[in-house]
Amino acid sequence: MASEYLIDLKGRKFDNVFKMPDGHIGEEQSSIIPAEGPRAMFWMTDSIMHKMKEGTDPDVSHMSHEHRNGFETFFVDSGKMWLYMNGTKCMLTQGDILHLQAGMAHGMGFLEDVKYRGFFHDYVFSPDLGAFNKAKEKYPEDTELDKLRPTMDFINRERMLFKEIPTEQCPAVRNPKRPLAEYKLEGVTMKVITQRWENAGANELCCAEMEPGFTAQWVKFPANRELLYVRKGEVKFKIYDEEFVADSECLVNIPKFAPHSLEALTKAEVYDMGGLTLWASFLHDYMSIKTYDPERFAKPETISDLKEKFNCQIECIGMKK
Ligand SMILES: [Fe+2]
Repeated sequence: MASEYLIDLKGRKFDNVFKMPDGHIGEEQSSIIPAEGPRAMFWMTDSIMHKMKEGTDPDVSHMSHEHRNGFETFFVDSGKMWLYMNGTKCMLTQGDILHLQAGMAHGMGFLEDVKYRGFFHDYVFSPDLGAFNKAKEKYPEDTELDKLRPTMDFINRERMLFKEIPTEQCPAVRNPKRPLAEYKLEGVTMKVITQRWENAGANELCCAEMEPGFTAQWVKFPANRELLYVRKGEVKFKIYDEEFVADSECLVNIPKFAPHSLEALTKAEVYDMGGLTLWASFLHDYMSIKTYDPERFAKPETISDLKEKFNCQIECIGMKK
């Protein structure tokens, strides 16, 4: 069911191949959505990180680096990997989410092939990058040209000294099984995965765990550009007059002002990757008013004021009648 708004990550061919110094293919990668606006939001890449060459010791070979400005959120959608992060080492497996803030040094060792979906913001791109890539296409082997490669907010670090810790103790590793906060609404559980202050205020990450029959209708012309990641389940979307089903490992890329709605066809796990709605604040205040001031909660303007305050563009939610 093809749609210009649907990006199915399953079984895609990759655009780039990155080899390790020994010739082993380390990563196949495609840039799926380009960065947008002054904070380089919405940049998304899809990679398969290949299992390390037989006999490689990740404690020795992990190449660590950090970013001055850039934030990275990776969905580990298959396999298992070691993460080395600021002097610790822990194991990540399918279902984990890795949230690396600017200044967190990180290196990896891939024990199996890992489907590695990256979402970024605040990366500093050199304005010369496009021109450099063009020249590199013409002169792929030229070492003089390589010396002029624009820097990409990528600072190499040394092989890391580390202490092995349980995964749950690593502040960079998130999992919907261990949300920072959780709110149950009709047909959906909203889980806070990363907070706005962990993203330098740019966005936040929330997961909606939907029951079959859950529906959400946005306002007629939503003022948010939206990117949703359906990690599990099947969800029917309507965007303008187009209907389609997004299943596991699908992105739904919704332009600003496009009327849209959704209906979960099965249990589903859907992430708000744009993160422009202040979900954590909205949900917390919603529950506070409901608990402490039911009279105020019952007035229709209470919730509409809250939606406006926290940029929630959803008109209504509930179970399909
Ligand atoms: Fe990185």
